[in-house]
Amino acid sequence: MDYGRFVIEFHRMSGLDLHLYKESQMKRRIDSHIKKYAVKTYDDFLKLVKENPAIMETFMSYVTINVSEFFRDPKQWNTLESDILPKIIQPNKTFNVWSAACSTGDEPYTLAIILNKLIPSGRFKIIATDLDKEIIAKAKKGEYPEKQLLHLPSEYKHKYFTKEKDLYTIKSEIKKNIEFRQHNLLKDPYLSGMDLIVCRNVLIYFTEDAKHTIYGKFAKSLSETGILFVGSTEQIISPSQYGLKSQKMFFYSKPTL
Ligand SMILES: C[S@@+](CC[C@H](N)C(=O)[O-])C[C@H]1O[C@@H](n2cnc3c(N)ncnc32)[C@H](O)[C@@H]1O
Repeated sequence: MDYGRFVIEFHRMSGLDLHLYKESQMKRRIDSHIKKYAVKTYDDFLKLVKENPAIMETFMSYVTINVSEFFRDPKQWNTLESDILPKIIQPNKTFNVWSAACSTGDEPYTLAIILNKLIPSGRFKIIATDLDKEIIAKAKKGEYPEKQLLHLPSEYKHKYFTKEKDLYTIKSEIKKNIEFRQHNLLKDPYLSGMDLIVCRNVLIYFTEDAKHTIYGKFAKSLSETGILFVGSTEQIISPSQYGLKSQKMFFYSKPTL
């Protein structure tokens, strides 16, 4: 079986359509992963994952690449906190946030830390989603090695984490505004009325067509004053095609804002 056939069979089995991920990169990753299991062909690997849910889970986590960290690209989080959020937070309205493809939770917790400061009433809600069930379970736990906290300002480390052995655990006062859910950006319905959507470092893995569809859907998910915050290598070329305009580099809104 060739790569194309493997992708079709795997889609049938898992619901994940790898055709929508850039082929050269994905194929290279998959081929190198398969080698670990002493199987030579895609057929044998499919048999293996069918019979072994643990291998399936590991494979899913591997193909979807889930590295993350708190305040990843600190300058951009600074822009969000100082320039963007003060413009769009309204004191008497719940501020709705979607952290899409949130991986181990570093990103929604970073958001909650910032919003805790900017919205002292606590009237904000973060829906944090990812495709990978295992990673969501990890995110809910909120335990991190030091390396994921490298860019976290030390005042927050002391205030919002407890440390045991080598792991930092996020406190419940930061967890309480976040709801974690499984969500596939390529096929599940999108949320609506979002004041902020953060989706970073995942669209780089998708084909141009998939990206185009996703940006269109995100634009529809935004509230009138909503902002879409994307990753450092994910600027949108001609945002107007989605009814969006650039506020600052990496931040997009409807043209009325
Ligand atoms: C590199 S991480 C990015 C994490 C975080 N947004 C950040 O920037 O640090 C990419 C995440 O995208 C998730 N992902 C991959 N494909 C996805 C899809 N189709 N729908 C939703 N999430 C997906 C992966 O499970 C992974 O957790």
